[in-house]
Amino acid sequence: MKKNKLLFLILELCILTFACCYFYFSHLSEKPESSPSVYRTEKEWIEKPMTRNGQIFLRLADNQRADHPTSIACDYFADLVAERTEGRIQIIPYHASKLGDEKSTLSQLHYGGIDMVRTSIALLTDYNPELTVLEMPYIYRDSQHMWQVLDSELGDYFLQSLERSGLEGLCWFDAGARNFYTTDKPITKPEDLEGLYIRVQQSSFMVDLVSILGANPIDLPYEAVSTQLKQQRIDGAENNFPSYVSTGHYLTAPYMVMDGHTRIPEMIVINKKILEELEPEDQEILRQAASDASIFQRNLWESEEQKAKETFIKSGGQITYLEDQAAFVKKVQPLYNTYAYRYQGFLEAIQAVGQ
Ligand code: GCU
Repeated sequence: MKKNKLLFLILELCILTFACCYFYFSHLSEKPESSPSVYRTEKEWIEKPMTRNGQIFLRLADNQRADHPTSIACDYFADLVAERTEGRIQIIPYHASKLGDEKSTLSQLHYGGIDMVRTSIALLTDYNPELTVLEMPYIYRDSQHMWQVLDSELGDYFLQSLERSGLEGLCWFDAGARNFYTTDKPITKPEDLEGLYIRVQQSSFMVDLVSILGANPIDLPYEAVSTQLKQQRIDGAENNFPSYVSTGHYLTAPYMVMDGHTRIPEMIVINKKILEELEPEDQEILRQAASDASIFQRNLWESEEQKAKETFIKSGGQITYLEDQAAFVKKVQPLYNTYAYRYQGFLEAIQAVGQ
């Protein structure tokens, strides 16, 4: 009898515990009506521009420091938009990778976590591989030819081509020609690069470009390069003059060879859904301001490139020239078979521009 009572007591206790837990947890999952914003769905978070007191705020990620010509042009773009919307739309540029490295800001842009990114197209090829044709080695005769291409219908096509990834290119920026720079010895011919550890952007195309020239490519985010150079974990890298100087890489890698192996144009890219949340007139203001900022940036580029060169030379840096440019051009030709064989039409169209 006693045993039955005990069993009964245990059963009662179990039922009581179960009822308490059920009540507690079901109550927890209810949404208190007083704080609805906490319970916004992911979709609501990611596809709307941030609005406060009637003002719209758009974040623009950029991995260059504030003194770099592309950063100056991003600030100019932000000012134009603020002026033309009488302060209703505020673009906030975050320079110096404050929102993350280029690769991760692009994936945040893709999901709507960031509204805009100023980026090298070397990383945008993940969102449209066709863009690779615009970074093929020695594809442009010179800077003027590159701008003729970017200003043509072909350039407009590529800005719009990101639509399939939910993005829109707003404008082009210049990023000059990229050259190799090294810590210990000057480069004058392809053989000098053999066996060197050279940092490249996080792009399979850039990895292959450096491998084909005989060096060992190390793909790293831009922000990591200074430390790797200082710690002598890499022998060099490659970039344009303003970036080489603005990052301070020239102080640890003081040999720059003017090989100009590629020109990689840049874009300001926006998440298309966020753009389309704006009134049509505001969308136009953004597009026009970006295109005006593009003109401003390309005018600025040349003088900033010259300034960077002078700073480098004053610091005791050494500029070298290739003994035989044709030898470099020849060595990288197989890349056209690997990366551009599908885009013969684009290649021919690029060559025909300005002829
Ligand atoms: C250029 C470009 C950057 C890019 C960098 C790099 O300087 O402007 O956007 O990230 O090259 O080499 O990573």
